[in-house]
Amino acid sequence: MTVDRLTRVPGLLYGGDWNPEQWPEQVWAEDVKLMAEAGVNLVTVGVFSWARLQPDSHRRDFGWLDRLLDLLQRHGIAADLATATASPPAWLVRAHPELLPVTADGVRLEFGSRQHYCPSSTAYRAAAVRLTRMLAERYRDHPALALWHIHNEYGDHVQECFCPASAAHFRRWLRERHGTIGELNRSWGTACWSQGYGSFEQIEPPRTAPGPVNPTQLLDWRRFCSDALLALHRAEKAVLDEVSPGVPVTTNFMSMLKALDYWEWSRHEDLVSDDAYPDPADPRAHVNAAMTYDLMRSLKGGRPWLLMEQAPSAVSWRPVNLPKRPGLHRLWSLQALARGADGILHFQWRASSAGAEKFHSAMLPHRGTASRGWQETVRLGAELRRLGELAGSRLHGRTAVLLDWDSWWALELDDHPSARMRWLDLLRPWYAALYERGVTVDFVPPGADLDDYRLVLAPNLYLLDTATADRLTAHVRAGGHLVCGPFSGIADRHDHIHPGGHPGPLRELLGVVVDEHWPIPDGTSTAVTLGGATGAAPGAAPGAGAGDRELRAEHWSEWIETEGAETLARYASGALAGLPAVTRRRYGTGSAWYLSCHLGTGIGRVLDLPLAEAGVGAELPGLPPDVEATRRHAADGTRYLFLLNHGPAERRVPLDAPGTDLLTGTAVATAATLAPLGAAVIRIPAAEERP
Ligand code: GLA
Repeated sequence: MTVDRLTRVPGLLYGGDWNPEQWPEQVWAEDVKLMAEAGVNLVTVGVFSWARLQPDSHRRDFGWLDRLLDLLQRHGIAADLATATASPPAWLVRAHPELLPVTADGVRLEFGSRQHYCPSSTAYRAAAVRLTRMLAERYRDHPALALWHIHNEYGDHVQECFCPASAAHFRRWLRERHGTIGELNRSWGTACWSQGYGSFEQIEPPRTAPGPVNPTQLLDWRRFCSDALLALHRAEKAVLDEVSPGVPVTTNFMSMLKALDYWEWSRHEDLVSDDAYPDPADPRAHVNAAMTYDLMRSLKGGRPWLLMEQAPSAVSWRPVNLPKRPGLHRLWSLQALARGADGILHFQWRASSAGAEKFHSAMLPHRGTASRGWQETVRLGAELRRLGELAGSRLHGRTAVLLDWDSWWALELDDHPSARMRWLDLLRPWYAALYERGVTVDFVPPGADLDDYRLVLAPNLYLLDTATADRLTAHVRAGGHLVCGPFSGIADRHDHIHPGGHPGPLRELLGVVVDEHWPIPDGTSTAVTLGGATGAAPGAAPGAGAGDRELRAEHWSEWIETEGAETLARYASGALAGLPAVTRRRYGTGSAWYLSCHLGTGIGRVLDLPLAEAGVGAELPGLPPDVEATRRHAADGTRYLFLLNHGPAERRVPLDAPGTDLLTGTAVATAATLAPLGAAVIRIPAAEERP
């Protein structure tokens, strides 16, 4: 079941994790009263309640949760009820010490924190499924129940385990994937370094070894670890689907997490939800947050998603934890809505007085209702009520970014030409360039249908199968535009080099061949001149000076030769001086671009060319600096234009249609004025055509 909305809660969702087991019941009464005051309509309960629900192997205590859910119901607040399985209780751990996870060095991690379980432990899994069933059977018809919340942040603290049970599970997984040991040997390339296996029984997880471990073994291990956690999730999901059909189920994702293939995971979610903790100390945090939110929206093809957790102010787990200055939390919350979220939830409702997270901010801070934080909580709740009508509306980009976890994992394996080629480092400047140009981006998996997109960006496709390459080629032939970043088309799904020269299956489409990789040493850079060694860049703004054509390649460059592509930029210093750096090949009725280097923040000046060629522009032309603009579309044709000012100066934004700012209730005609950290959400009726 995939859902667009929680049918039991109208409008936008607002609330947070509530951990009532940390408080005497008298406090609950005050909690629900204050929740109502703040406009909270959904709280996540039970995330860390296992020890309270099952105090020992044969006792259960659900009475408190009965009372809690009844209390919520009486106050009109819905529950996102957790299955409570993220932290197994001490009695279970002591009865089954083998369920504790083991590191690659053989250290068994102790009880005393959270997420202390081996993903392949049968004892853990059986107990988790049992608890899920008890909760589902007891609460499936409870009127407060709006959403099931499986576990909590899979992969947060423990992403892999190297114990004997994991090893056995890995072997079973390998047998299923490869069929025979001969196939596995071929896939892993075990002829190298005398690693051949005679049987699956001889295989172990990639524990700490004397030197580099077989890369395909490591790649299969990454795949296995994502699958092993997903199997746990699916076991709980199956129980909920069976016992409590009709109630949607989610688990909270962790933004751009390398460990879990969220394309695969999201197929098993009814609703995507995410935990996002942009750092108030990072002046570019909102750009990375936008990128994450675009991914969350894209995971279910543009359906609304839920911001399940964010900090109302400071977190407690960075070395230095800055609070959010006044207005920042509101702005960042609106940003999630601007990028397709239908709800804003937090960690957590009431600040803890004990335990590891007592210095984490909360919707209700330690100081109580006199605090600045509480004022912001109440204000945000009121504003979300004013924005309720936009629930269910959607936004889509015309530009797609290809994201493939398999390729991400393979790219970052050891013993490559440079350890600096990290997926997020490659992706971020591309995304930032589009963000700064006001272009809305969707993420797509390698198998996606690309028909909706005029422009497809692939900052890196180290691992690329021929089916994906064929799809990209067909897209360009039919008039699409593709921009492909360096070190792409290198390996097949076994991490074997494609024969015949890089970029392998993209060589013909891109019209280039890579002769050799030339990583650039840290702290140095290579000059790149747009427009080749001479002449202006095609599509460069009239009057663009030579300075606008000078870019710097960092960390990576390639010796490439063209085979049908034209050269748009050349290396201008170093060993590759004079050789092509950026190329374009006209192919069919589209074009395919290749960037052979990492251009850091200069990438925007290159991307301007394919953007222009593809006819992809800003969501709202003429945006002043620091202002983010997105547009959500309702089924009836109403549009909601979000304008967010992330900068310290007031900004005036020219509008392309008149409307009403839902935050203030005032009409806006030709321009909106945004205070520093200010925002507007402008409803534009269907009848108002863009000029
Ligand atoms: C994660 C967890 C929460 C809490 C927060 C603190 O998101 O899911 O339980 O620990 O971090 O920021």
